[in-house]
Amino acid sequence: MNELAKKITSKEAVIAVIGMGYVGLPLAVEFANAGFKVFGVDLLEKKVEKIKSGIPYIKDVSEDELKEVVRNKRLTATTDYSVLKRVDAVSICVPTPLKKTKDPDISHILAASVKISKYLRKGQLVILESTTYPGTTTEVIQPELEKSGLKVGRDFFLAFSPERVDPGNKRYKTKNTPKVIGGVTKNCTKLSKLLYSQIINTIIEVSSTEAAEVVKLLENTFRSVNIGLVNEIAIICNKLNLDVWEIINAAATKPFGFMPFYPGPGLGGHCIPIDPHYLSWKLKTLNYNAKFIQLAEEVNSSMPDFVVAKIVNALNRKRKSIHSSNILILGVSYKKDIEDVRESPALDIINILKEKGANIHYHDPFVPSLKDNGKVLKSVSLTENRLKSADCVVIVTDHSNFDYPFIVKNSNIIIDTRNAAHNISSKKVIRL
Ligand SMILES: NC(=O)c1ccc[n+]([C@@H]2O[C@H](COP(=O)([O-])OP(=O)(O)OC[C@H]3O[C@@H](n4cnc5c(N)ncnc54)[C@H](O)[C@@H]3O)[C@@H](O)[C@H]2O)c1
Repeated sequence: MNELAKKITSKEAVIAVIGMGYVGLPLAVEFANAGFKVFGVDLLEKKVEKIKSGIPYIKDVSEDELKEVVRNKRLTATTDYSVLKRVDAVSICVPTPLKKTKDPDISHILAASVKISKYLRKGQLVILESTTYPGTTTEVIQPELEKSGLKVGRDFFLAFSPERVDPGNKRYKTKNTPKVIGGVTKNCTKLSKLLYSQIINTIIEVSSTEAAEVVKLLENTFRSVNIGLVNEIAIICNKLNLDVWEIINAAATKPFGFMPFYPGPGLGGHCIPIDPHYLSWKLKTLNYNAKFIQLAEEVNSSMPDFVVAKIVNALNRKRKSIHSSNILILGVSYKKDIEDVRESPALDIINILKEKGANIHYHDPFVPSLKDNGKVLKSVSLTENRLKSADCVVIVTDHSNFDYPFIVKNSNIIIDTRNAAHNISSKKVIRL
């Protein structure tokens, strides 16, 4: 333990980050920037090659930064797990999706654990960062690692520390986002804290890996439930013929006890629509039905239909049917100013509209092409003609670089799901 602690403080510790995605690549670069030697391990040769060539495929990592850590050999990407023989600490950042049945799919965590176990040696520290249900670290990873014959807390150290990265957030990056850590034993927590304090300003210690696992699930369930509430308020305001945005903005002037959340076309991304299911699944195994999670999911997943109903009604008022109408979708990533389309509500909206026989085009400066049921859709350019020829323009994602006055001026009808054109007064704009 003392030996590893010394190596960490002197930056001689070698670190492996497993999974070079949205979470793993920025983390690996951060450790490399802090002076550690880092191996970035991924299954995909394509990603490894890109890192080796200094091509960042994630917006939060700059090309200069990546090129520098690759050039000075602080970061080495590889598909070869045997580098783990040479490392002191391993951080697991692999995906945790849902199965078709909406049950947790922890197969990537398990696969990574089997490989880590093969190379595990005395004194190593292993930290799981992937979001998962409570119990994964001690019930799944620990037994797998102990198959090596080594014992946690005595021979090796194991902890859970949830990743909180918010892709595209310019204010909160790895360094200034406090990190929660819970170890299997006290020494596991101590060493993990020491490691992360090399790159992060504030570390919050909790009493167990399970507590740390639930912290992350609470954070994302909190968002899902509050967005679900405000989406329902949008539906209610619609029925009452009131402007939900006016109401939220006025409520948000209360200096205490109210935190504004905003309605939208539905949840997207790899976290908020997925993570609460990890918690409700675990609770089902304990014969408890997590009611808020279920209700929020119900409301949030109905939002694409709500948006489509708005489009249908707006066209109807112009004596047009949705069938054969030209619809232009603006923004398809799940949130503004990023390129990630995972679970994006734009995909649901496009599919519902297509089923109804609409002709769909989309424009998104961050997403040049989209795979839709095996077909590839390409982003069209945003010209005056393109806007004028659309029967309806739908702002699904409110990218900052959209020219909203230009969009409003040249469109026939605009369904604005994000209140993006709030500064422009026009009867053409229909808000949620
Ligand atoms: N993306 C986010 O904003 C975010 C934020 C907080 C937490 N998380 C959580 O972090 C975890 C990772 O998410 P992500 O968005 O970085 O995923 P991602 O899909 O962007 O990246 C995961 C990477 O892991 C690789 N991989 C899969 N199995 C592997 C294995 N066995 N060995 C080595 N590499 C493997 C994949 O090829 C991929 O490159 C998830 O649990 C997610 O819920 C994500």
